[in-house]
Amino acid sequence: MSVDRDDTAVARLALLQQVRDRRVVVCVGSGGVGKTTTAAALGLAAAAIGRKTLVITIDPARRLANALGLDSLSHAPQLVDQGLVTQAARQLSTTTMPTTTMPTTLHAMMLDLKAGWDDMLFRTAPDEDLANRILANRFYKVLSTELPGAHEFIACEHLQYLAASGRFDLVVLDTPPTQNALDFLDAPSRILGVLDNDAFRFFADKSSSLGLRFLDGASGRAQSVIARFTGGEMLEELGDFLVLLKDLYDPLTDRTRQFVALLEGRDTAFVVVTAPQPTVLSEAAFFAGELVRRGLPLQAVVVNRLTPRPTTALQILEHDHVDETLQQAIGGDDGARVAAALDRAVGDEDRLATLEDAALQGLMGAGGALSATPMVRLPRLSDAVHDAGRLVELLPWLVGSPKI
Ligand SMILES: Nc1ncnc2c1ncn2[C@@H]1O[C@H](COP(=O)(O)OP(=O)(O)OP(=O)(O)O)[C@@H](O)[C@H]1O
Ligand SMILES: [Mg+2]
Repeated sequence: MSVDRDDTAVARLALLQQVRDRRVVVCVGSGGVGKTTTAAALGLAAAAIGRKTLVITIDPARRLANALGLDSLSHAPQLVDQGLVTQAARQLSTTTMPTTTMPTTLHAMMLDLKAGWDDMLFRTAPDEDLANRILANRFYKVLSTELPGAHEFIACEHLQYLAASGRFDLVVLDTPPTQNALDFLDAPSRILGVLDNDAFRFFADKSSSLGLRFLDGASGRAQSVIARFTGGEMLEELGDFLVLLKDLYDPLTDRTRQFVALLEGRDTAFVVVTAPQPTVLSEAAFFAGELVRRGLPLQAVVVNRLTPRPTTALQILEHDHVDETLQQAIGGDDGARVAAALDRAVGDEDRLATLEDAALQGLMGAGGALSATPMVRLPRLSDAVHDAGRLVELLPWLVGSPKI
């Protein structure tokens, strides 16, 4: 990271434009790469340039809360200390981007899966009585907590709801840590596939309890749809559930179409977060390709935790007789050992930076969606980003002009 290349500066500006102009920013990527940290930093940057922002996390770990200086997060948006936004605005004041507005508010929340489904149920159901009956059905509980993609689906739904609420100019979503990040992208179309299914519609249009007698006579297609949910279990209760859901099908389908349209549209930017290790980078390259293939707007890549090249340390070690100074200060063998350890440590950092550079060059040379996307590079800080101060330190590297 010794050279701040022009394209990196351009990429930072491109990312700043995303938080300035979009209504939704979604941070995606493999586990542990820095999605939560990036989402928090982007939210902070947006508030600093005058956009009322909400950062949503789904990760129950307290990382977002801690990074934003909060003790914990709940399902309701919580106001982040305005002092932090002011600090961020000061940190970004050297940026070349013209920002006409004053710093504004930043909120953060942790989406609770069950509460998210319940919220959606009460918003979508034509009346409260129906919503309460659905709430009491065991199948609803299974659906809302165990259906593959339920987490991702409700995250998208909430994202759309909050983005359209008028309370925020920008909503930043920190996506869940997931074994297969593609689940997140597939959840809406999977749910839509179920809702749009003719057999499901057929059951939903019946006015009495469906139960097994309907399912017995149903087509194999219907059975396979049911099997997606339950593997063939609880069919009686499912029948009742489908009847209860009758009036929810159309509004639910509409909601799903709305958030699919939001995610695919001009108001949204996807940011792939990655790290400079070859396996993680190739996952990111694959993921970027999948985003583009699905027509989702990939706007930036953040390569996080790059090893800072120890240029100054190397120069000092080469020219300033550090070895002799250490030996004199500490004395004898101990001084020599410390000097050698220092040489090794700085040399290792330098080699690591070279390896990471090579991995990035390889990625760029390989073509594909990732290499055609603005790439922002964040340094690995000496400590984890456990507090707000550290987060502010990352901002110039993300969307500003770092002093190198
Ligand atoms: N640039 C950085 N320098 C130093 N530490 C960092 C940096 N970015 C992130 N970290 C630390 O790395 C750890 C993982 O980061 P983070 O929680 O943001 O990743 P994540 O992708 O959200 O992980 P998960 O997939 O588990 O949700 C955290 O302890 C965070 O503080
Ligand atoms: Mg996370």
